[in-house]
Amino acid sequence: MSSKQHCVKLNDGHFIPALGFGTYKPKEVPKSKSLEAAHLAIDAGYRHIDTAYAYQIEEEIGQAIQSKIKAGVVKREDMFITTKLWCTCFRPELVKPALEKSLKNLQLDYADLYIMHYPVPMKMLEKCKDAGLVKSIGVSNFNHKQLERLLNKPGLKYKPVCNQVECHLYLNQSKLLDYCKSKDIVLVAYGALGTQRYKEWVDQNSPVLLNDPVLCDVAKKNKRSPALIALRYLVQRGVVPLAQSFKENEMRENLQSCWSPRISIFRGILTWGASYDFYLPSLCVDSDADDVA
Ligand SMILES: NC(=O)c1ccc[n+]([C@@H]2O[C@H](COP(=O)([O-])OP(=O)(O)OC[C@H]3O[C@@H](n4cnc5c(N)ncnc54)[C@H](OP(=O)(O)O)[C@@H]3O)[C@@H](O)[C@H]2O)c1
Repeated sequence: MSSKQHCVKLNDGHFIPALGFGTYKPKEVPKSKSLEAAHLAIDAGYRHIDTAYAYQIEEEIGQAIQSKIKAGVVKREDMFITTKLWCTCFRPELVKPALEKSLKNLQLDYADLYIMHYPVPMKMLEKCKDAGLVKSIGVSNFNHKQLERLLNKPGLKYKPVCNQVECHLYLNQSKLLDYCKSKDIVLVAYGALGTQRYKEWVDQNSPVLLNDPVLCDVAKKNKRSPALIALRYLVQRGVVPLAQSFKENEMRENLQSCWSPRISIFRGILTWGASYDFYLPSLCVDSDADDVA
């Protein structure tokens, strides 16, 4: 893995870069813009790209990766590529073909991480790992009980390396995070910057996270942007955040969350204790957005 991005060790021995580049955009956004953004992200230093079959953007991500490999900017092994199994392919016989289709779209021989987008049994993902099509397998949108049920399942061959869930200053997922840590499962956070606020997913009357006065105050005191503080808050708690942006300056700024000095005044943020999940319908919320010690 590239030395350019700080990494977190997974329970199967692989490493995940501490900040991921999110690639979801709604279908109205031209795919050429996502292609351009993926190029910019790799140039900026992102080595962890989070995509999914459902985002219908795997081909563009694949093109960007291949062109950067050809140009000598990165090697395949420098990159950590996540994609996800969509709900239409949860039937056991459809899982491996779905992964093969994603790999073809991405022009890759293997994915670094394959995640089930929503909770289903794990068996077929294990087979994909055994077949060498993916290095690590994980889950998404599992609440504490679903994760516990999965881990207690007789015959489970591989523990998921991660649980990708909505997690940010307004939904700190502290109990789920504690549980994941106790089982050596990395919590990957989406919506870390308060989401892209698209109408179909997010109530337009919800608070704008990056405008939060307490966050802005902490940012001002630390001479950093609210986005950097929001990401740094997650990184310092051992969470691996994803951050989406089309803007090069934002991409570069967000990467600094992995490097910037430790910020010690989160206590103020945590006691304000807002609790808000943006994504509709609510997924993976255990009413556990308590303060973190
Ligand atoms: N597993 C799942 O079910 C699931 C669900 C949702 C998302 N995800 C993944 O998580 C990724 C990230 O989540 P998300 O797409 O909801 O969005 P997000 O990363 O929480 O927020 C993205 C928004 O933040 C803004 N932004 C980024 N950097 C900024 C900065 N430095 N300063 C100010 N604004 C900044 C961007 O604005 P600009 O437009 O100005 O750049 C963009 O609108 C997705 O792309 C996807 O890969 C997974």
